[in-house]
Amino acid sequence: MKPRKIKDGIYAVGAVDWDRRLFDGLIPLPDGTSYNAYLVKGSEKTALLDTVDPAKRSILFENLSDVHSLDYLIAHHGEQDHSGLTPDILAKYPSAKVVCSPKAKGILTDLLALPEDRFVTVADGQTLSLGDWTFEFVHTPWVHWPETMCTYLREDKILFSCDFFGSHIAQSNLFVTDRGRVYESAKRYFAEIMMPFRTAIQKNLERLGKLEIATIAPSHGPVYGDPRLIMDAYREWTSDKVKNEVVVAYVSMHGSTAAMVDHLVAGLAERGVQVWQFNLTDTDIGKLAVALVDAATIVLATPAVHVGPHPQLAFAVFLANALRPKLKFASVIGSYGWGHKIVDQIAAMIPNLKVELLPPVICRGLPREGDFAAVENLAETIAQKHAALGLD
Ligand code: FEO
Repeated sequence: MKPRKIKDGIYAVGAVDWDRRLFDGLIPLPDGTSYNAYLVKGSEKTALLDTVDPAKRSILFENLSDVHSLDYLIAHHGEQDHSGLTPDILAKYPSAKVVCSPKAKGILTDLLALPEDRFVTVADGQTLSLGDWTFEFVHTPWVHWPETMCTYLREDKILFSCDFFGSHIAQSNLFVTDRGRVYESAKRYFAEIMMPFRTAIQKNLERLGKLEIATIAPSHGPVYGDPRLIMDAYREWTSDKVKNEVVVAYVSMHGSTAAMVDHLVAGLAERGVQVWQFNLTDTDIGKLAVALVDAATIVLATPAVHVGPHPQLAFAVFLANALRPKLKFASVIGSYGWGHKIVDQIAAMIPNLKVELLPPVICRGLPREGDFAAVENLAETIAQKHAALGLD
């Protein structure tokens, strides 16, 4: 993709990655992604805002082929999909300085072995003039590393937000065109990457609320010409409000656990509770993460494997604990053949989830009448707990 003009003097010079299907060896990217870098040419100084993933080096350098001098490389974040080509940019532009938060300086120095004399650190609220443009730096820690910051272009009210408000979506249009598609992708991005830092993000949203923002230019996905779409969404996702929804994550080996899951899901549906059901042997963990953004309850369903939960279920539990969703309730259902410690082991795996554990239902072999009755009781308990929170 060639440089694309946002306004006179402001260009997107990053790369679209249509083919990438996995991030961090963990996160599925069904829609690819982009690594957005921006070039701002002022009347006196020129700045590049972030680099791109090293795999897309040739695209960034092609897009900078007409840029013969650079004064600043603004580094919002230390992760290598944005910072990875910093050494290459510093080599191409020997007088350029890396502008970043003090914490980012330490991270960039360690991750990329950069020399100290190439850095200028900036405080929260500090400004930098390019002549006719003025950058204001806004420290936004924990979106999603401790060193992250945004850059606000005062004259045109553009917020360059790096990962904050990003979405893993490859598209040729620079700006958001399909709001629904971008909303879904941004929610997935939030769920997978930002959700553990929900309370820190609330504070950062308050901070940004003091700025008049006309455009948000993140480092992944399209640019928001209407910032309300993503800022309102982030306010909702980070709020303490949950919905009348249950995530059922399950594995079944011989059908017993699946029979209990079917019964539970039917019981919840009869009571007007929305269920998102995931068979963990064949599921997109990104979709599971998205469902956890709003759900009030999670039910973990597993057979015993060597007395503990099935490893696929254990992975989902580990993930849910790491993502720290705002769940209020959790329960466990499942089956065993000759012995189990399923409930104790799962309970020990979720210290980050501030949930009330509802009575589990574990049966030996095929579930019978009494087991289905217990599952029905669990559905009723969940419905009542949700109703007590005012969820409908
Ligand atoms: Fe897109 Fe945290 O890097």
